[in-house]
Amino acid sequence: MEKLIYLDSGATTFPKPEEVYVAMDHFFRNYGVNPGRSGYDLCIEAGSVLEETRKLLTQFFNGTDPNRLIFAYNATDALNLAIFGLLKEGDHAITSNIEHNSVLRPLYHLYKYGGVEVDHVPFDSKGFVDPDEFARRFKKNTKLVAINHSSNVIGTLQPVREIGELCRERGIIVLVDTAQSAGKIPIDMEEMNADVVAFTGHKSLMGPMGIGGLYVREGVEIRHTRAGGTGVRSAVRIHLDEYPYRLEYGTPNLPGIAGMNAGVKWVLKQGMSKIHEHEMKLLHMLRDGLREIDGVTLYCQDNLDNHVGILTFNVEGLEAGDTGTMLDVDYNIATRTGLHCAPLVHKQLGTDKIHGSVRFGIGPFNTQEDIESAIRAVGDIARIRQKQKAL
Ligand SMILES: Cc1ncc(COP(=O)(O)O)c(C=O)c1O
Repeated sequence: MEKLIYLDSGATTFPKPEEVYVAMDHFFRNYGVNPGRSGYDLCIEAGSVLEETRKLLTQFFNGTDPNRLIFAYNATDALNLAIFGLLKEGDHAITSNIEHNSVLRPLYHLYKYGGVEVDHVPFDSKGFVDPDEFARRFKKNTKLVAINHSSNVIGTLQPVREIGELCRERGIIVLVDTAQSAGKIPIDMEEMNADVVAFTGHKSLMGPMGIGGLYVREGVEIRHTRAGGTGVRSAVRIHLDEYPYRLEYGTPNLPGIAGMNAGVKWVLKQGMSKIHEHEMKLLHMLRDGLREIDGVTLYCQDNLDNHVGILTFNVEGLEAGDTGTMLDVDYNIATRTGLHCAPLVHKQLGTDKIHGSVRFGIGPFNTQEDIESAIRAVGDIARIRQKQKAL
């Protein structure tokens, strides 16, 4: 069997750096106990990984208080905590057509069942939202703007800082989904005018699945929408108000936290700009190669200036799923096809009518040879399709 060419890093990065496997194994074998307030040494060691990772990620996002760094199970969980905890009946929220279902669905749920109004800002032909389009939708009751930093379908980086600036003037809370950007693009909450940042561990932070979180800026209060064990002040009947307990419930995913800790340290050691540069060099190669192929349509890839290493395409006359299957079965290339949990992106591109598109997600371990193979494979598939059409 030929070597797998993994071009599905938009879904999750794979493999992980060796340091991540080692850290998880070491932690779980040696300190795999439940942290909290017990005084035995092992418990204190386990708790110190938790606290050290809070500090590491607080610094990573340029936050100020590690207690406001909340661990959740993934970006979806973190975004749910924020959206349900920030909005109440009568509020208005603005989001965009770029969003992943982890933002769209909680908001839709609140629209349908919770008396919350929601507006969606479209993106332009290049794949970017216009900050003024948000401002045009501001109302007296606008409480929240939820915006994706980087699209998981077309890879465009959104003008979050400008949107944040407009929101700051009006006291509107800005929630940023950094699932596709954290670990590739520096995220400075202050600079970005972000109030709440949601992240996931298993993509470009190079950690495992099942771990993610939020950073909540001082002055922003998210209601607890769940309740349970905190390991401290067990006699208090209502869930604790102070951070991080306010938004954390039950036993945390400590092996996941240890893995994410090692992943973030690996990213910092390599240098985020070096990782991003590498992925963008490969993206340019891929884009330039694919656009020479007859019958291949690329979406929002003309200007790669504000972009991450994600590329979406279709082969004329083929369903995205069929192209993906051919890449998998005939060329051993892993991609992701369909709507990518971002139905409004596809609706706006018109690709919802052809069951979505094929997505290449470039990661730090991809090579020039991977990209050359991908271009050759798509070229073969497109030529076969053109020949069939001519018959
Ligand atoms: C932009 C974006 N937001 C949120 C998510 C959800 O991330 P998770 O799977 O960690 O919940 C993803 C995952 O693909 C994503 O691409």
